[in-house]
Amino acid sequence: MASNYCKTQARLTKFSIIILILSFPMLSSPFLRRCEGARWKPVRNLQGFGNSSLSSSKLVREDEDVELNHHGLRDPKFSSINRRKLESCDDSNSYLSLSISASDSLQDVQNVTVTVSGVLNPSDSDWIAVFSPSTADTNDCPLNKALYIETGDTSSQPLTCLYPVKYQFVSADPQYLSCGNSQCQKEVLDKCLVKTCNGSITFRIINIRTDVVFVLFTGGLDVPCVLETSNALSFANPSSPLYGHLSSLDSTGTSMRLTWVSGNGNPQELYYNGGSSTSTVSTFNQTQVESPAADFGWHDPGYIHTASMTGLAPSTSYSYYYGSSVAGLTANKTFTTPPAAGGSSLRVVMYGDMGKAERDNSDEHYVQPGALGVIDALSERLSTDKDVDMVIHIGDISYATGFMVEWDSFLEMITPVASAVSYMTAIGNHERDFPGSGSVYKTSDSGGECGVAYESYFQMPTPAADKPWYSIESGPVHFTVMSTENNWTAGSEQYNWIQSDLASVNRSSTPWLIFTGHRPAYSSYQNSIIDDIIGTAVDTSFPPAIEPLLLNAKVDLAVWGHVHNYERTCAVYQSKCLGYPTNTSGIDTYNNTVYTAPVHAVIGTAGFTLDPISTEPPAWSLVRIGAFGYTYIQADPTSLLIQFVSNSTTGQIDDSFQFTR
Ligand SMILES: *[C@@H]1O[C@H](CO)[C@@H](O)[C@H](O)[C@H]1NC(C)=O
Ligand SMILES: *[C@@H]1O[C@H](CO)[C@@H](O)[C@H](O)[C@H]1NC(C)=O
Ligand SMILES: *[C@@H]1O[C@H](CO)[C@@H](O)[C@H](O)[C@H]1NC(C)=O
Ligand SMILES: *[C@@H]1O[C@H](CO)[C@@H](O)[C@H](O)[C@H]1NC(C)=O
Ligand SMILES: *[C@@H]1O[C@H](CO)[C@@H](O)[C@H](O)[C@H]1NC(C)=O
Ligand SMILES: *[C@@H]1O[C@H](CO)[C@@H](O)[C@H](O)[C@H]1NC(C)=O
Ligand SMILES: *[C@@H]1O[C@H](CO)[C@@H](O)[C@H](O)[C@H]1NC(C)=O
Ligand SMILES: *[C@@H]1O[C@H](CO)[C@@H](O)[C@H](O)[C@H]1NC(C)=O
Ligand SMILES: *[C@@H]1O[C@H](CO)[C@@H](O)[C@H](O)[C@H]1NC(C)=O
Ligand SMILES: *[C@@H]1O[C@H](CO)[C@@H](O)[C@H](O)[C@H]1NC(C)=O
Repeated sequence: MASNYCKTQARLTKFSIIILILSFPMLSSPFLRRCEGARWKPVRNLQGFGNSSLSSSKLVREDEDVELNHHGLRDPKFSSINRRKLESCDDSNSYLSLSISASDSLQDVQNVTVTVSGVLNPSDSDWIAVFSPSTADTNDCPLNKALYIETGDTSSQPLTCLYPVKYQFVSADPQYLSCGNSQCQKEVLDKCLVKTCNGSITFRIINIRTDVVFVLFTGGLDVPCVLETSNALSFANPSSPLYGHLSSLDSTGTSMRLTWVSGNGNPQELYYNGGSSTSTVSTFNQTQVESPAADFGWHDPGYIHTASMTGLAPSTSYSYYYGSSVAGLTANKTFTTPPAAGGSSLRVVMYGDMGKAERDNSDEHYVQPGALGVIDALSERLSTDKDVDMVIHIGDISYATGFMVEWDSFLEMITPVASAVSYMTAIGNHERDFPGSGSVYKTSDSGGECGVAYESYFQMPTPAADKPWYSIESGPVHFTVMSTENNWTAGSEQYNWIQSDLASVNRSSTPWLIFTGHRPAYSSYQNSIIDDIIGTAVDTSFPPAIEPLLLNAKVDLAVWGHVHNYERTCAVYQSKCLGYPTNTSGIDTYNNTVYTAPVHAVIGTAGFTLDPISTEPPAWSLVRIGAFGYTYIQADPTSLLIQFVSNSTTGQIDDSFQFTR
């Protein structure tokens, strides 16, 4: 995506950041121009871990900042680790060493055990981090804390240059603090004078193309200093074609796109259905994004390959593999095309706000605790029940938010699902928002990505770059997918498109009309921190702008994410219930033979730490559930059944409702 919309016209100072948040959601551009001059330049050509530079720099820390991290699980101390210079440890232990279970030829997925040995005093403040690449900047780091307000989190502390991929405390090895694995280093007359201890931590390393080093720190996350650094380990094949995920090119069910990553930028082949298709190659670089994505969160994405498959039959399974003789070829995989528009049935899974977590229990910049449970449940459902035709992930996709290596983690995590069925997406604040970049909301929630990474990895049938809206039909359902992060006010390009898209729906062919986007038009969630600063979870100007379109088009269901719980409304317009479901055969049924108004559902439950449930819900809120899960939607021409599958491991259905016509 060769686009420039991420480049802000001005930079922010700490003071301006506070004003920005207080003046949410609209900010005048003259204000932004006033901030010009606070620009920081990325630091280049600095020494890597192979050098002693890391351990020779002084710790610089500023503590006066207020942490307004209303989104994350991540430890705020760790989240600022990259923004500090590191002190050298006052430790002259000559026994200390780090050893690694793997040789310098890492597989695409591999467990690597790192053993610390020769420790004189095991401490719960000892930790091991994975860094990549080994040569990245670690010295002379930017200190302008005001430039760091990614992910809606205004924590701002001193900066160092390189952000760790992930880390674990050595005390995660139960033998470590108790010195269960000890060695005598100096023995006199059968008496041990110097005893040292070992600790081992296993990291699950996935192919991120660039080499990795393991670094032992002590001092916890508060005053970290470097004790030891391992040798750098490279991947056996940095060019491996990986993380292929499917999406629909159109509503025919006969054309699909596969997008994958590789360290090799030459076109590769996608082999399917007896033929093949050559990939188009793209990438993005630091000049297209902003901090932290552009600097201490940067990780080279390699190359993004995309290839189209045509001439398929709807609702049919095919095998495929991809790559090249130079880059390598993947194993044979299988996918199923979705039903064609106008078909008689569709089974679609929808969710928002998934993100990712590490399977080795490492902590990282942003962890979403429900993500693995939900994706594993879905993966299991796909391989056993095989009753999912398509997935629609409505924003807040990976929560990489400028820490670019986390896109690889997310892509690897969803591969079992996204390599088997069409994985459609909508953009969220954590993919798109950045001050001065043209997003509706002037927060830094995308960590400087401004949608560049998202649009590279998830190429939807949208009109153009930074116009992330589209519609797709499958079976008896028309989905209108909007961007709540791009201008949607009356008269905007997107508004006009929504209006015409909704008007174009042929309700004989696709009787069901589902409207979706990231930020809700209805949610009873209240957050005192957010309320104080930026208002409620719902932008109060959004429903008045969008509701008349939905009502006019007789939208059956409007589905949103952003809020991390599940909620369902009556048939509602302007906060008034115009229709209620009736209990028909034991299930809440909205009889849309006599249409009243759209029903809204919030489903931001796929991974992010859950938000509380409103204790004083408005009358339009019929059901509220605080649990991780996904929605499973089954449609035929006369009924649309929605289930909230809340307990991912058991497939428990905590809410069901249906529409009939
Ligand atoms: C970065 O990407 C832009 C836009 O595609 C391109 O014009 C520029 O040459 C790239 N810069 C480098 C250093 O590759
Ligand atoms: C280490 O630093 C020296 C300069 O101090 C530089 O010449 C050398 O290339 C660096 N080595 C690595 C591996 O970065
Ligand atoms: C890594 O270790 C975990 C836990 O023992 C295991 O479940 C997993 O299969 C291992 N992964 C690989 C790639 O060996
Ligand atoms: C501790 O680690 C060292 C170096 O890896 C190894 O030689 C030694 O056997 C280990 N000791 C124990 C008790 O595991
Ligand atoms: C891939 O698998 C399909 C069926 O599972 C099989 O028909 C096909 O020959 C396989 N292709 C390759 C290249 O192994
Ligand atoms: C959004 O679109 C409307 C209608 O074209 C326009 O008046 C408004 O200035 C736009 N807002 C922004 C922030 O560009
Ligand atoms: C609407 O769909 C029906 C059923 O597929 C079809 O017969 C009809 O021609 C379509 N109408 C228009 C205007 O395309
Ligand atoms: C619907 O009615 C049945 C009894 O007919 C009852 O068991 C069930 O709880 C009701 N469901 C709802 C959603 O009210
Ligand atoms: C829905 O309402 C229509 C019109 O009142 C009625 O004919 C139909 O039986 C109702 N359907 C259900 C499932 O209750
Ligand atoms: C899911 O159900 C299992 C079995 O009842 C239970 O142990 C687990 O805690 C539940 N998980 C969640 C997230 O509710």
